[in-house]
Amino acid sequence: MIKIGLDYYPEQWDEDFLPKDVEHMKKSGVKIVRLGEFAWSRIEKKEGEFDFGWLDRAVEEFGKAGIEVMLSVPTNTPPRWLFRKHPEIIKVGRGGGREQIGIRGHRCLNSQVLMEYADKITKQIVERYNASENVIGYQIDNEIEANWCGCETCNKLFREYLQGKYKDIDELNDIYGNQVWSGDFVDFEDVTTPPAYQNAWLNPAYMMDYARFAAKSATDYCEKIAELIRKYSTKEVLVTTNTWFPEHLPDYYKLYKNLDFVGYDNYPTTDVSNMASHAFHLDLMRGIKQDSFWIMEGLSGAPGSWGPMGETPMPGMIKGYALQAIAHGADTVLNFRYRTAKKGAEMFWNGLIGHDNVIGRRYEEFTDLIDCIKTFEHLGISDSKVVSEAAILYNVEDEMAFKLQHQSDGMYYLKSHMAWHRAFTRFGVGVDVVNGREDFMKKGKNYKILVAPCLYIYDEVTEKLLHEFVENGGTLILTPRSGVKDKHNNCLMKELPSWVRDLAGVKVKECDSIGNKQQKVLLLDEMWRKHLSDINISKPTDFDYIVSTQWCDILEVETAETLAVYASKFYDGEPAVTVNSYGNGRVFYVGTYFDDVGYESLLMSVLGKHDLKAIEAYKDGREIKGTNMYTILPEGIEVTKRVAGDRVITFIFNDAPVRQTFKYKGNEYDLQPFEMMVIGKL
Ligand code: GLA
Repeated sequence: MIKIGLDYYPEQWDEDFLPKDVEHMKKSGVKIVRLGEFAWSRIEKKEGEFDFGWLDRAVEEFGKAGIEVMLSVPTNTPPRWLFRKHPEIIKVGRGGGREQIGIRGHRCLNSQVLMEYADKITKQIVERYNASENVIGYQIDNEIEANWCGCETCNKLFREYLQGKYKDIDELNDIYGNQVWSGDFVDFEDVTTPPAYQNAWLNPAYMMDYARFAAKSATDYCEKIAELIRKYSTKEVLVTTNTWFPEHLPDYYKLYKNLDFVGYDNYPTTDVSNMASHAFHLDLMRGIKQDSFWIMEGLSGAPGSWGPMGETPMPGMIKGYALQAIAHGADTVLNFRYRTAKKGAEMFWNGLIGHDNVIGRRYEEFTDLIDCIKTFEHLGISDSKVVSEAAILYNVEDEMAFKLQHQSDGMYYLKSHMAWHRAFTRFGVGVDVVNGREDFMKKGKNYKILVAPCLYIYDEVTEKLLHEFVENGGTLILTPRSGVKDKHNNCLMKELPSWVRDLAGVKVKECDSIGNKQQKVLLLDEMWRKHLSDINISKPTDFDYIVSTQWCDILEVETAETLAVYASKFYDGEPAVTVNSYGNGRVFYVGTYFDDVGYESLLMSVLGKHDLKAIEAYKDGREIKGTNMYTILPEGIEVTKRVAGDRVITFIFNDAPVRQTFKYKGNEYDLQPFEMMVIGKL
């Protein structure tokens, strides 16, 4: 069953709000709430003195209303008495000083003392609510990031981690390149967590180890708390944590390995000039466990508080983004939050109801969402899953490494991931975003096309899987910065793209990091040129050239065929894009970053030459310029499918602030801004 719910903070309101709020939520059809995320100091005011009265009443009230509760293990915000007694649990910053407390997230996840107290509070909460039938699970902490902390414990554990990894200090010195600036460590005691220099100024192999260690600390912490929850629970409960895309990346795949599902905090931008990435992030979240996920916090009002207030969601956004998440595999959506906080630093991060406590447009749209969901059940949506025939590989370590050393002005790891994702979306082709470090073809996946952007750090699993994939007839797309680094984040002394060179059938002669400057790419391939003119139909200009930016790999073909060449600078005429036959499959090497039409027109060629039967949208697609082969959806229109047995539920979403009229598979559609149309065939 698809459930819609809310994040609610009973501790922030006078008690007489509770019955009215619960009654109101019940009437609206709310099925689930999340409570107690930051409530440690209100549960345990002084050490060992518990006041569960307010939470008991809330859990009971929701129970009477038939509303389920996800409780939280509130370790994101340890109480002041604990910080006062044990200041050693406070994180230490890069400068070596302890953080000042007063906001949240100050705790060090490696602190043994924190763990002891976390154990006690977890025991209290879980044992207390074992008997409450409507308590169905727990969220651990809040938005856990990799634990970048320089406290004594972290220093000690980091050293132990390195001692477990390297034979001796000489091996470590050698791998880190400590001879470069005379930085050889005398012994492991010399090694510390990173000093306060810019990441890129410190040895990349050292920083990579630290990023891995900090991510592992977050995973270990979560696993321990999950274990405690399960130990103290006398019934089956769901255990998760909520996540997003923080600066200090956790390893999502490891973080969620032993948790029951992925919980994502989904705040799509309300700024309509920058809207294209929502779907990509949802697909990445689904790909973490290759399964359904939850939205733990969903957009409900204008963001604010952490910066100046943003634009209020346009009519349709609150409902539309919840439905979009469901279309991409979410089974439960909780909106953040019921009512906007009256007090506290987040008082301008808006909820569904404003400070005036008057039910208005946003809450009405939320109830409209609930009514809409009720109509889904007869379509058999509950046991349906998103099925895709194309995938984009995501490697969390590659993103970590890109964050440590920016490759080019304006270029970031996910840039080409999102560009390719947008291109697939324009053709109505669903895409999975999957971990390249594990068997992404498991669970019966049958991908025909795989985009593997920036295979930066060597990984033998990825190497093997990609070779098998292409040998078996798949189409692989490679991009710049592939094959650059070894496992330690040092440079490989090989001609690029090193370990995928045989697949690509090219070598990179030289690279040009052009940043935000532009390069021109001349298309030699007739079909590609034709597709470019097909796509550019509304803005006919020059169908021979594509604009490129950020990075140019200057290629030399070995066994590949050249599809496009650069058209300026000293490498005018040198290959920029190639295709190679390998085994039963093909490999495209795209040596630069295009604008959107570049990716769309190339993808059209990729799909055009591929087994079209694999891609339903193409087979049945409407004609463009009389080809009768392709569906080009208007920008912002997304077609997603959830499948259960022979049932297919198609979601057509207008992720754009304007009304759009278009044809898809021979039918006319007319969608209002952020409108979702759901078509279910039994
Ligand atoms: C995050 C947090 C919430 C809240 C919201 C809004 O997602 O998990 O506690 O702070 O952002 O800022």
